[in-house]
Amino acid sequence: MTCAIEVNHVFFRYDEFAMEDINMQLHLCEHKALVGLNGSGKTTLFKLMLGLLEPDEGEIYIFDQKLGRENLWDVRKDIGFLFQNPDDQLFAPTVWEDVAFGPRNLGLPESEVGQRVTEALDFVRMTDLAHRPVNQMSHGQAKRVALAGILAMKPKILFLDEPFTGLDFPMVRSIFDIIQRLRDDGISVLFTTHNRFFIENWADSLIALKEGRVLFDGPTHKALNDAEVLEQIGDWDSLKREMAQKRVYDDTQ
Ligand SMILES: Nc1ncnc2c1ncn2[C@@H]1O[C@H](COP(=O)(O)OP(=O)(O)OP(=O)(O)O)[C@@H](O)[C@H]1O
Ligand SMILES: [Mg+2]
Repeated sequence: MTCAIEVNHVFFRYDEFAMEDINMQLHLCEHKALVGLNGSGKTTLFKLMLGLLEPDEGEIYIFDQKLGRENLWDVRKDIGFLFQNPDDQLFAPTVWEDVAFGPRNLGLPESEVGQRVTEALDFVRMTDLAHRPVNQMSHGQAKRVALAGILAMKPKILFLDEPFTGLDFPMVRSIFDIIQRLRDDGISVLFTTHNRFFIENWADSLIALKEGRVLFDGPTHKALNDAEVLEQIGDWDSLKREMAQKRVYDDTQ
């Protein structure tokens, strides 16, 4: 087995948007960036790989097991998914209870649940807020709690949908550390971002979507030399140049 995830010729259609002939592999231990403009299909692809949406055509394999209705729960417990909006995944009365929900669902003894929750909250530096209601969390805090809930499940694959948006710099840094540690533990990660810094410093490879199709799939260094891929990430250097020129122009007014 070399792949954590394999997507083969997947087609899927909402009313007005279609994903067409999607092929992708996420290798064991690989950290892969999933990029594309707003509405290009990134979150839809996550939902297909989690079995939250069913492909119209094609197959998805998780650790060589074909994803289907009969094995959905079994396969999904290996995957941790950090939603784009953390409010979509917090629902227990307190932070502690929320993080405990997943491990309890795995049927673990309460002592093991307690240990995992303590460790996970410590990881994301939320121990002090363990007994706060989840609806009193700021956006960044909610994201940290959601991440703790995922880590407490000890997943083998992580899907992170824009993990860094809304987080302050120390938190970005500590999530970066966490992810590096996960790499040492052999966890495969697929993450979306619109930020070139994270791609350059974190992704081994990159898949770019454009209007529901795969535009590019390959090593990061190749992606960053491909003008069409750069268009999907955003060419920040050219924006910087434009802004600098504009500032000169404005100064002369
Ligand atoms: N439940 C839905 N029903 C119908 N169309 C949908 C639904 N969810 C998403 N879409 C459409 O599918 C397309 C892809 O959406 P998706 O959320 O996958 O994009 P994305 O790449 O994650 O964008 P973003 O960068 O904004 O998060 C969009 O055109 C969106 O309007
Ligand atoms: Mg999205």
